[in-house]
This record gives sequence, C-alpha cells and structure tokens, in this order.
Amino acid sequence: MSAVPMLDLARQYTTVGEECQAAVSEVFQQGRFILGKEVSEFEMQAAAMLGAKHGIATSSGTDALWLALEAAGVKPGDKVVTTPFSFFATASAILRCGARPVFADIDAATFNLSPTEVGYVLERRPEVKAVLPVHLYGQCADFDALNTLKQKHGLTLVEDAAQAFGAMWHGTTAGSLGDAAAFSFYPTKNLSAWGDAGLVTANDDAIADRAKMLHVHGMRVRYYHETVGWNARMDTAQAAVLLIKLRYIAQWNEQRRAVAERYSALFRASGLAVAETVLEHAADLALPWTDPRATHVWHQYVIRCRKRDDLRAHLTANKIGSEIYYPLSLHQQQALNHLDYVEGDFPHSERAAREVLALPIFPELREDEQQRVVETIAQFYKEERL
Ligand SMILES: Cc1ncc(COP(=O)(O)O)c(C=O)c1O
Repeated sequence: MSAVPMLDLARQYTTVGEECQAAVSEVFQQGRFILGKEVSEFEMQAAAMLGAKHGIATSSGTDALWLALEAAGVKPGDKVVTTPFSFFATASAILRCGARPVFADIDAATFNLSPTEVGYVLERRPEVKAVLPVHLYGQCADFDALNTLKQKHGLTLVEDAAQAFGAMWHGTTAGSLGDAAAFSFYPTKNLSAWGDAGLVTANDDAIADRAKMLHVHGMRVRYYHETVGWNARMDTAQAAVLLIKLRYIAQWNEQRRAVAERYSALFRASGLAVAETVLEHAADLALPWTDPRATHVWHQYVIRCRKRDDLRAHLTANKIGSEIYYPLSLHQQQALNHLDYVEGDFPHSERAAREVLALPIFPELREDEQQRVVETIAQFYKEERL
C-alpha cells in the first residue's frame, strides 16, 4: 500500500533544490546574513507581483500580521473584528498590538469572515477600528462587501493573506486589497521558505514606512530609535530561497488548481453522496465551493464530511495524510478565555471545526494518488453503510 503524503516538499526540492542551495551558499559565503541585497530584491519583486507599492520582508507570518496591524494604526485598546475560524496568530497578533479581537462568524460556504456578521457587530460596536479578514485555504474573503463596510464605517482593512500568495478577488491580488496585508512563507504554505519567513505589503507610503521602521527596532538611523518596534527581519538566506521560488509560484498555483479540479471531478464520479457547498442532510461530504469572484490558489483542498474523525482514522490506517484546519474555533481556545465568548456564539465556525478535513494537495501530487485518496474515502462510506 503506497503512502499519499499530505505534503511532499522533497518533490519540490527536485525542481528548485539545487538553485536554492547555490543561492543560499552564496549568501553564506559572503556573510550577508542580515538585510543582504536579496532581502530588498525580494521585497521589490514580491510586491510587484502582488500589485502592491511596498513590501517589507519579515521573520514570520505572525510578525507580519502584528506589523501590518500596528503600521495600519491599530493601537492599545482598539477593537479589531476578525474570524474565529483561523490559525491562532490571527487573534494573537491583535492582542500583541494591545488591541482586542472581536469575532464575527464565518460564511458557511467559503469559511471566510461573513461581511453580514461583521455588519451586525459594527452596529453594536461602532467604535471598532479595523477588520482583519483571512483568505482561508487560498480563497479571498469577500472584499466587495468588506469595502462597502469600510466606506460606511471608516474602517481600516488588514488582510491575513498567510495562505493566499497569488490569490485574487475580481482580478485584484491579495496583498493589495486592504490597507495592509500579511503573508506567511512557513514551509507548508503555497509559497514557502526554508524555515520561517513572512511579508507585509501596503500601498500607502506612511503605512509601509511605519512597518519598515517597526521591524528594525523602530529605527531609521542606526541606534537612533524613534519608536518601540521589534526585531522582525527576514534572514537573507530565506530571501534568496524565496527569490528563486517566486519564478515558479504562478505555475505551482496553476498546478494546485488542476489538482483541486481533479479532486472535485473524482468525488462527483465516485458514487458518494456529494454536496456542492455545505454538508446537506443526506450527503457524505461537501466539496469546497469557490466564489465566482475569487481566483483560488488552493493552499488547501478542504472537504466537509460526516463522521470526520472516523474517516480521518481510516485514511491514516491507509497511509493517506490529512489535516484538520482547525479543530477548535478561536473563541473556544483556553488562551482566549478572557474574551468571554462561549460555545454557541459562532455556530458556523463551530460546525466547520467539527466537519472540515484537508486532503493532500501540492503541485506535484499525481492523479493516481488522488484516485487512491478518493477511492479510500468512498470505501469508508460504503463500509459504513453496510
Ligand atoms: C491564517 C494564518 N495566519 C497567520 C499565520 C502565521 O504565519 P507564521 O506561521 O509564518 O508565523 C498562518 C500560518 O501559520 C496562517 O495560516
């Protein structure tokens, strides 16, 4: 029984490994470990690719989120609306600014922050300063509706684009939709470094200038500190790797799209009871739904499924990788107890946490491997019905 890994970076290494090794070696040989020329080159190229005026390379996506929020003007005591269905850093970055996360439920079809729910929150709390939508799994949040809210309420919009390098909304690239945006190049991301790395993008000169200053201890001139920042720089070696991978990202995102389409076609032909968006009563599973306004980059291919945990155990027993992003909503995390939310506050997010299952997806995933994933899932539900 051959294994199907959730992600196999060794296959990517066969394409870009040698080039990256050579680029990293050069950085090491010349001793340009910190803020070498590759860092500014990456900032320029990545920002240009994302349609943003400025890019600031950072040590991680988490640091990029904090920087983007703080540079966009989020201050201690401010309230920032965000989704409860995301990685923990989405909320912790808000707290790191001294601000308070205020959750609004997700849209059941896309898993992204629901602008309708954000609207309800804003009616109750007009003092909200900013909204932090996440482009979850590689699909942009609804920026038409979010921009309408921005106009009406004078909000700042910061994108958590950690999972969405190259994604678009109505042809505008993630990273230039909001006032500022944060990307992660954590090794599992669709554009990945050889370790931790991230990026802030902004079109506004003042926001970019603040982010740039904050990520080097609040200094413009060496050892003269204008404000209290932090060390949040990207290593030159990571920039060297990312510069090479930038040349491939468009092609890799295309390959991910092909993999996702193939999964959906295989599921529809599998004989399973397949729903097209949310998990309906009679369905075994629901396929991911793409908003026609979004260009998805398929950082993850996530189904909703009945008996999710049993199905996952069956996949594991058959050596098929899978992952749950995320098993517990942020408002139910112990670390955020002090925000005083309770179970039942965000039913769509809580339901998603019970139903979602991410299947293996990466550009090099083969069709026979996908067939095995779908057949193994079909076998689970067939046996379960007997
Ligand atoms: C939605 C989201 N936000 C923020 C982050 C934080 O990025 P990093 O792990 O690079 O700090 C991640 C990735 O882990 C993420 O998926």
